[in-house]
Amino acid sequence: MKILVVCLGNICRSPIAEGLLKHYSNLYKLDWTIASAGTNGYHTGEAPHVFSQKICKQHGIDISNQRSKRFVYADFDLYDHILVMANDVYNEVSKMAKTTNDLQKISYFLDALYPNKNKNVPDPWYGDEAGYAPVFDLINKGSNAFIEQVARPSK
Ligand code: 4NP
Repeated sequence: MKILVVCLGNICRSPIAEGLLKHYSNLYKLDWTIASAGTNGYHTGEAPHVFSQKICKQHGIDISNQRSKRFVYADFDLYDHILVMANDVYNEVSKMAKTTNDLQKISYFLDALYPNKNKNVPDPWYGDEAGYAPVFDLINKGSNAFIEQVARPSK
């Protein structure tokens, strides 16, 4: 299965999700392809935000090799699931969809945790370092819920 997590800048939220989903897919030997992207392209080529790297490292996850990339239409063909972090991202990505099949690939990252609520992962970009720990925890819970729902690993 191929999964793309999308936020705005691809430097704060979706790199954490990429790191966590990769971590769990390795742990459960799921053989998934996991990547992340951003809708705005402002940070293309940059490493994840220093505070995203730091909170991941504190949990034993190294995301320093990730580089920001912009979401492009071809991603609809490359991925089975496109998980968006928030409403604004949902709107941008769904505007780019050309087919119902494209549209059906898009869902909210937090849907597995809060079904049908269209809940957002808050963007820590606009705050200070203290905002990154709760965002990490939420993305961690969401990653676990997604893996449970989609893969149902026997632990
Ligand atoms: P992210 O946070 O979408 O979680 O990566 C943001 C990072 C940068 C910007 C916006 C959100 N920006 O506008 O530069």
